[in-house]
Amino acid sequence: MFFSSLEMAPPDAILGLTEAFKKDTNPKKVNLGVGIYKTDDNTTPILTSVRRAREKFINKETTKAYLPIDGAPEYAVEVQKLLFSPGHEIVANQRAATAHTPGGTGALRVVGDFVHRMFPRASIWLSSPTWENHPNIFKAAGLTVKSYPYYDAANKCLDFANMISALNQVPQGDVVLFHACCHNPSGMDPNEEQWRQIARAAQARKFIPFLDFAYQGFADGIDQDAAGLRQFCQPGCELFVSSSFSKNFGLYNERVGAVTVVGADRQAREKAFSQIKICIRTNYSNPPAHGAAIVTTVLQDNELRSLWEQEVAEMRGRINGMRKLFADTLKAKGVAQDFSFITNQRGMFSFSGLNKDQVQKLKEKYAIYIVGSGRINVAGITAQNIGYLCESIADVL
Ligand code: LMR
Repeated sequence: MFFSSLEMAPPDAILGLTEAFKKDTNPKKVNLGVGIYKTDDNTTPILTSVRRAREKFINKETTKAYLPIDGAPEYAVEVQKLLFSPGHEIVANQRAATAHTPGGTGALRVVGDFVHRMFPRASIWLSSPTWENHPNIFKAAGLTVKSYPYYDAANKCLDFANMISALNQVPQGDVVLFHACCHNPSGMDPNEEQWRQIARAAQARKFIPFLDFAYQGFADGIDQDAAGLRQFCQPGCELFVSSSFSKNFGLYNERVGAVTVVGADRQAREKAFSQIKICIRTNYSNPPAHGAAIVTTVLQDNELRSLWEQEVAEMRGRINGMRKLFADTLKAKGVAQDFSFITNQRGMFSFSGLNKDQVQKLKEKYAIYIVGSGRINVAGITAQNIGYLCESIADVL
């Protein structure tokens, strides 16, 4: 009748790999597609801080009544402390408002809807490359998507000269999305001086910076990783932040994220946030409570907070250890090509430089699943799979 005439949609570039991986019967199969953290015994356990917070919170929970459109106010307070640091001018002057969203993706879509409704002529600029889902989210919101240079694939570093020159030509009022740290997929972030120049370009060109902050704590530390964002946080600035706690709290399936809008002053923020709330109400109405309650409980409790910080440091340390082991093992397996650049990248992902054919061969011959762009989830490499992975890569190179 109606549906038989439809075309089949292609599988998702990242989550589609997990579907294929689950069906694969090869006992040696390895999934390095989706960004999920694995311990060395190949599991994704619930963090101890999260487990304890859950016990504490569940005993206190008295109702399942709706949350407000923007979620629980105490969650917003904690998110802002993570972003700006307690007592920051933006917080003190009430220039920021935060809503709890279903994951970082929910926050991205809310901003997309807001920009489309309030500033219909504005385009959004994304780094090239960027997370596979970014362009789709903003196109779905009706925005025009443009891109600025970011990664120099030949030299395996930031293409900063071209990036900054493109940013210095962005029209006033457009929105420019940055990965606040642990750039997905390249693993290469601007240094402090480069962030300063980027923030200056935002001020000079009067574009609206939008920081996608999905990996806070996975590069250098929870507070350190906000350094890029804080370069933009000057008096009178206006910006958006999308936060995700999927990775740093391991709360993947709870879908816990946040959208934060900063206005030039309190009144501007109030106006913007009232419109953000309309975007939320007409999308998913109000957020699910559980994940944010866990995050809030951890962040409000000194003991749980320091345990969480330790657990984030452990995850970060294991990933960085795997980067080095990966580069060393490839060399030990006789790979002539130098992969040491992988140790300069930060966060969950590494842009391996493997091409589409090599990625395809790894999947077909060895049941190793990697995103088509050559992005590897380093957080999924373990002591168990490293040997098999590096031998297989050596064979397809
Ligand atoms: C990823 O990039 O693998 C993660 O952000 C998960 C996702 O939704 O794609």
